[in-house]
Amino acid sequence: MFLMAFMILLAALLAVVVLHRVTKRHSSYSAYNLPPGNLGIPVIGQTFSLLQALRTNTDHQWFRTRINEYGLVSKMSVLGSPTVLLAGPAANHFIFASEDLILTQTRALRSLLRRSILTLTGDELKQVRSAVQGYLRPEMVRRYVHKMDEEVRRQIKLNWVGRDTVTVLPMARNLTLAVICSVVFGEDAAAMVEAHGSDFQLLGDAILSFPVNIPFTRFGKGMKASANIRKAMRRIVQRREESLLHQGFVVSSTDFITYMLVLRSKRVHSLTSEDIVDNVMGIIIGAHGTTSALITFMIRQLANEPDVLARITEEQDHIADSKGTGNALTWEDVSRMKYTWRVAMETLRIAPPVFGSFRTATKDIQYQGYQIPKGWKVFAAQSITHLDSRFFNEPTKFNPCRFENRSSIPPYSFLPFGGGPRMCPGTEFTRVESMVVMHYIVRQFRWRLRHKDEPCMKDPKPTPIFGLPVQLELRNPSTNLGA
Ligand code: HEM
Repeated sequence: MFLMAFMILLAALLAVVVLHRVTKRHSSYSAYNLPPGNLGIPVIGQTFSLLQALRTNTDHQWFRTRINEYGLVSKMSVLGSPTVLLAGPAANHFIFASEDLILTQTRALRSLLRRSILTLTGDELKQVRSAVQGYLRPEMVRRYVHKMDEEVRRQIKLNWVGRDTVTVLPMARNLTLAVICSVVFGEDAAAMVEAHGSDFQLLGDAILSFPVNIPFTRFGKGMKASANIRKAMRRIVQRREESLLHQGFVVSSTDFITYMLVLRSKRVHSLTSEDIVDNVMGIIIGAHGTTSALITFMIRQLANEPDVLARITEEQDHIADSKGTGNALTWEDVSRMKYTWRVAMETLRIAPPVFGSFRTATKDIQYQGYQIPKGWKVFAAQSITHLDSRFFNEPTKFNPCRFENRSSIPPYSFLPFGGGPRMCPGTEFTRVESMVVMHYIVRQFRWRLRHKDEPCMKDPKPTPIFGLPVQLELRNPSTNLGA
């Protein structure tokens, strides 16, 4: 009884302290010319309303309502932070180019991924960005196309062939995890996926969770998964270091760990082995959920668009016919998949895997006559321009041909991979991986959606609520998936 009264008193005291701080903070902005809008109830603000919109996939309407009410620059409060919502190509340019805005690093992200590309700033970030960009640049991706091809065929044989029904999203997640691991871990990939596949999933799920480390919460599970993965990776890095020392750093291997250790031996960067581990985790988290969302939504779209499927099939059959039986796809083959890539871009326009970008102001800044105080968040959602009829004619219509002439799309209106110095370094990787996957799926199968209009939610990646179960038929038993 006494304990309960004490707990209630403590909770009340805490609430008063938080309210006092928030009120003090708000009154200290009285001299600022803040954007219109309201910050809602202290701490909570518009968080629940936005989360509900994401859950029901009505976030686009949610943003539109605010823009109609307050204009292209407005203030709100989400996830405990005052946030300025910006809309339009000029706003996108500002968010990606301003030196006074840094990528928002949540406490959860910092705890889970520690010193990875997603959490570093300044000179340390420059070193890591340049190494990661170097590893994912087109000439490097070209060197591991055969690896992707091999892994994609293996996954399709394992999880798709011989089944009447497949639930696409979890299968796409397995596939993209296996592909990115086969590239970054090299010979250790299979063991890592086998032992830590579910840990990577838990880690990805925890990135936007509430950072209180209690077991059985999303964050608690993510922290445990992160520790498990880290432990296994430390062993791999150590083994690689020993073997490189033994060979005098002469290598032919293309895995990320070897690449980073070789660069360090040449003094290109000074990252510790622990930093390398953190960055492997950052790359896998960046690659896995995004690419699997793209593949899932392409498969969904193609089930509803027979003409588009027919054109893709023609393109892929043509490429297959020009190759010898049993040969893996090459970089040149992927470069010929022009129509299929337009379908991917149209899918990224309609269902972008990353729904928007959060930045934090490092000092008081001005934007379009308004002041944004230091520490405030700035946010832009991709759907605002992706679904605007001024930039995309009939925006809700699925029309891959709009990407035939890229110059007709106004700058900073199509940004599935972000922009500026933090733009996604994995675009080429995504292109090659998604094209290889679509080649084998389209050539081998025909499919029907089990739920014709399966609802979607944003979690925050776009997610069909049942995972997109489809009924499969073998289209072409002779497709070359290998023995
Ligand atoms: C459909 C696939 C993908 C999409 C839509 C996507 C989207 C994005 C976006 C929008 C950002 C920037 C976020 C911001 O500025 O707020 C980003 C960053 C990043 N992406 Fe991707 N991505 C995809 C695939 C990949 C792949 C395959 C990799 C790695 C192989 C990757 C690695 C990363 C990394 C490491 C960052 C952080 C860069 C930095 O902070 O400087 N992504 N991605």
